[in-house]
Amino acid sequence: MTFWVAVAVALAVGLLGLLYLAGSFRQRRANEPPLDKGLIPWLGHAVYFRNDNMEFLKTMQKKHGDIFTTLIAGNYFTFLIDPFSFGAIVKEARSKLDFISFAAELVLRVFRFEANHESHKIIEVSSAKHLKGEGLVVMTQSMMDALQTVLFQWQGTSTEDPKSWKEDGLFHFCYNKVFRAGYLALFGIEPSDKQKEKSKKEDEQHTEDVFVEFRKYDKLFPRLSYALLTPPEWGQVKKIWNYFWQMLSVKNVYKKDNISRWVSDQSQQLAESGVSEEMRDRFMFLLLWAAQGNTGPASFWLLVNLMKHPKAMEEVKKEIEEVVKKSGQDPASRQKPFNVTKEMLSQTPILDSAVEETLRLATAPLLVRLILEDMDLKLHNGKTYKLRKGDKICLFPYLSSHMDPEIHQDPQAFKYDRFLSQNGNKKEFFKNGEKVKYYAMPWGAGTSMCPGRYFATNEIKLFAFLMLACYDLELINQQEKIPAINKTRYGFGVLQPMNDIQFRYRCRF
Ligand code: HEM
Repeated sequence: MTFWVAVAVALAVGLLGLLYLAGSFRQRRANEPPLDKGLIPWLGHAVYFRNDNMEFLKTMQKKHGDIFTTLIAGNYFTFLIDPFSFGAIVKEARSKLDFISFAAELVLRVFRFEANHESHKIIEVSSAKHLKGEGLVVMTQSMMDALQTVLFQWQGTSTEDPKSWKEDGLFHFCYNKVFRAGYLALFGIEPSDKQKEKSKKEDEQHTEDVFVEFRKYDKLFPRLSYALLTPPEWGQVKKIWNYFWQMLSVKNVYKKDNISRWVSDQSQQLAESGVSEEMRDRFMFLLLWAAQGNTGPASFWLLVNLMKHPKAMEEVKKEIEEVVKKSGQDPASRQKPFNVTKEMLSQTPILDSAVEETLRLATAPLLVRLILEDMDLKLHNGKTYKLRKGDKICLFPYLSSHMDPEIHQDPQAFKYDRFLSQNGNKKEFFKNGEKVKYYAMPWGAGTSMCPGRYFATNEIKLFAFLMLACYDLELINQQEKIPAINKTRYGFGVLQPMNDIQFRYRCRF
């Protein structure tokens, strides 16, 4: 009997120890944000959170106000909802709030790449050089050439009449075309020492294969990030990793022509800083993912919104036609390929506003920083809260700004001119009569702000420009509603639709 009592006591002590380690006994201390651990030890609110970030945070906000700490899968996350207080997080010194440690944990899980401050710096420096200023002019032209190939030349090789209607899912079409063009622009094309027709065919087949593999990974990505894959899914992920590590390996990529300086420079700098070839191959897949996982879905949301809002479509088309006319080009001309330059893209304020509105509606990143030391956080309302070392602090601008009806009236609606500047001044947004600085944050902010944002915007605009200037587009069922968003993708950049929507298109010339 005493033996079994001893076993029971040992088990109970063990269990209590585990719960202690899992943080289940944590109590809110003076001046800390409200604490909500949920009912399930260790897991806390993990299930609710990963199923629908937005709904979960709304519920918590109603219960606790604009700042609260929650337990999610063994970690404590403090959420700050008030957009007026975002500056305190975004501008805080890196020695107190660190983006890299949290990102590195995630990047290791989803890409098996060992990220650190040095690799982050390499991305930062190289992106400033090649995705801004003169570098951006070169990259925009490469994307234009690649879109020409993907949209017109490959189509030209088919036996079908280019002027006949073709049908596709709009999401599939946009993602496929933008992904394949972006891939060619960044990672290069088949070498030109082969026969031209042969290398073109190889690029066409190869990019389609890459897109298929990329989409398999893309669909598993949210559950992979939350470490929730089943064993067969794990098997699938490992296969996809191996496919990309091999295909994008340093050895293979350098066999291509026209590889972008953004990609080659980063690979070279990693090599110079002593990173192994195996890790550099993995880094290539990370770059592909960061660069190509969002622009295709964003292009879809832009086109679907324009197609469902005739006035917006009319205004954007009119603007594009004027820019084309001013450039002295004729898209119908067979003599010279139609070329949209970065300069032409700078003359489209209405399209710019429509893109910004699309990103407000469809981009929902979760911005996370690790708290490196106990610290005070002063909010806009004057209250100061204590934050604990080891916790994470998060912003979810989709709830705080993008969908706030006080900042953006009728926030669910697509208003193509919402961001259109008046009298040449940047549009301003207000809440309770006070100007809001962080009224939309599709690119994140501060140290982790997307380094590809200018190129991404140009990719989306180029695609829309070409589609609207050169194609007739129609939804198959004009009455069909814009598909609902897939809520499990909250937190991962540009959202995706629950289902596709069929459309037809034909070349106008
Ligand atoms: C609509 C398209 C895009 C959106 C909405 C987007 C959004 C974002 C966001 C929100 C982050 C920061 C994530 C965080 O704080 O954890 C990020 C990071 C990043 N983005 Fe983008 N992005 C887009 C396209 C691109 C493109 C085209 C490129 C490159 C060509 C790119 C390269 C990167 C890289 C390399 C990072 C990681 C930065 C780092 O770790 O230092 N992105 N992006």
